[in-house]
Amino acid sequence: MDIVLWHKILNPYAMAVDELLLKLRNTKRSYQKRGEYCPIEHVTGRVKSITSILDKMQKKGIPFDKMEEEVEDIAGIRIICQFVEDIEKISEMLMRRNDLEIVQVKDYIRNHKESGYRSYHLVANYTVNTLDGPKQIYVEIQIRTMAMDFWATTEHSMQYKYKGRIPQKVANRLQTTAEAITVMDKEMSAVREEIMDAQMSSQLRYNLVEDIVTTIENLYQVTSRRQIEKIQEEFYRIYSEGDMDELIHYHDQLDLIAQSYKAQSFNGAGGMHTDED
Ligand code: GTP
Ligand code: MG
Repeated sequence: MDIVLWHKILNPYAMAVDELLLKLRNTKRSYQKRGEYCPIEHVTGRVKSITSILDKMQKKGIPFDKMEEEVEDIAGIRIICQFVEDIEKISEMLMRRNDLEIVQVKDYIRNHKESGYRSYHLVANYTVNTLDGPKQIYVEIQIRTMAMDFWATTEHSMQYKYKGRIPQKVANRLQTTAEAITVMDKEMSAVREEIMDAQMSSQLRYNLVEDIVTTIENLYQVTSRRQIEKIQEEFYRIYSEGDMDELIHYHDQLDLIAQSYKAQSFNGAGGMHTDED
């Protein structure tokens, strides 16, 4: 029998998980910076433990030389979203990526499992660049709502507690809770527009303040202290009044001022400000 060097085998999978976590978290940030609604709530990832791999191989009769081919979830990414509607958006976003080649889709939302399990699964080819060159591996990506995730986590603990043989009474209860979760997701979808609006305006406010503060810092380099004080006082006054339209208007005005200074600085007026007016 060949020696199985577990950590050597698993290393590329760990790299893939790290890379995809970073990439997907950056995607979330890009949406936020653009002020667009982000269908991703958060992303987690893990490399399957050696015990789980062994258990799965044993259960499915997978030989060692077929492990990387047939255990598709050694590298696992989980994308959690708020609304059922987000799942399709995320899956389309993943399909557009050129670093992922989707090779399998399992829709356990339209066809939920008997246990009550609901989730959308993709298996993708992903290439990691190892010291020995590029290596293509499978990554399993699970997309589900927070409610579905809550259910799956709880049910998984039950599986563990009862070693995979959940008593019928408990199983029935879990099926009932899975139905309740589905009802909850439907209710969330019904108020989705309203929730999205609220979140978008809080994101907009956040982005505006970031922008304003950056502009003030830039202006500080090129204009007088007295003017910056006035600009800043005005900002805090508008901010404390809490009127978004005012804040947007102030932001645009400030932009115009900054633009005029940029034009000036091309004429050599840039540099650190001095204290005299
Ligand atoms: P395994 O279920 O992993 O043996 O592989 P499979 O080939 O049957 O793939 P499947 O798509 O059924 O499951 C892949 C993964 O989905 C699992 O590893 C779990 O993370 C999750 N999963 C599938 N079914 C259930 C379930 O009934 N309950 C929970 N909590 N998770 C599930
Ligand atoms: Mg399974």
